[in-house]
Amino acid sequence: MKTFTYDEYLLSKKVIARRLGDFVPEVLITLGSGLGFMADEVENPIYVPYEEIPNFGTCTAPDHKGRFVFGTLCGKNVAVMQGRLHCYEGYEVQEVTYPIRVIRLLGTSKLILTNAAGCVNMNWKVGDLMLIGDHIRLFGHGPLQGANIPEFGPRFCDMSYVYSPRLQELAESKARKLDMPLRKGVYMFFPGPNYETPAEVRAARVLGADAVGMSTVPEATVAAHCGMEVLGITVLTNMAAGVLPQPLSGDEVTKAAAEAAEKFSGLIRACLAEM
Ligand code: HPA
Repeated sequence: MKTFTYDEYLLSKKVIARRLGDFVPEVLITLGSGLGFMADEVENPIYVPYEEIPNFGTCTAPDHKGRFVFGTLCGKNVAVMQGRLHCYEGYEVQEVTYPIRVIRLLGTSKLILTNAAGCVNMNWKVGDLMLIGDHIRLFGHGPLQGANIPEFGPRFCDMSYVYSPRLQELAESKARKLDMPLRKGVYMFFPGPNYETPAEVRAARVLGADAVGMSTVPEATVAAHCGMEVLGITVLTNMAAGVLPQPLSGDEVTKAAAEAAEKFSGLIRACLAEM
């Protein structure tokens, strides 16, 4: 299992801080599939490619550019991850979550996580946005396994309020103002890269999941550990496997993510302004 020392996180932070001068990001935003364009809306951008930062992996997922964009968005100082790392790319969960801790060391205390996911809840439909109220991870290594780094948080991390109640209320009130339906539900992590089997989707439903996806949970866990306020928003790009009598395709996911991109970014912008 790959683990990192506190000094390694500090070194990566130093490399980024040198590029930023006195700019301090207040909010870290991780953009999922189809949302990469939001990084291009950042004003006065400072680009830091992941390959320039020690211990960072490179992105292989489609539409994931593999760089930070620092600057302002809706009047807030932000760090945008234009592309994230996934366990299914072969990265260990400690590598996937490494950037979260590095940005935390810059003084950033809020995190917006976005993703595309399969819809498990039979009452919802493709294109709906879902506020993540909680998550389930039963498989794969947890990102906090290995020696604890007390500078980030305690050995046994409370997970009662991973997704900030305050930010959930904010998102719900913004969605109402924008007259945009916003579901609220439980996101269940699957390691991928294969989509789930219909039996896994039925199991997820029994367990209380509303959506299934391959990201977000590792990052949210590490963020909870180091005391960040997390807002998680999902676009439901497809009915999960077995719900409809047809196979899933990556193209369907990409297309639905693109179609929902405008309302998705509208909601994120509205939240950001008041976070
Ligand atoms: N399962 C897992 N991840 C996903 C899905 C899905 O159905 N759709 C988009 N990301």
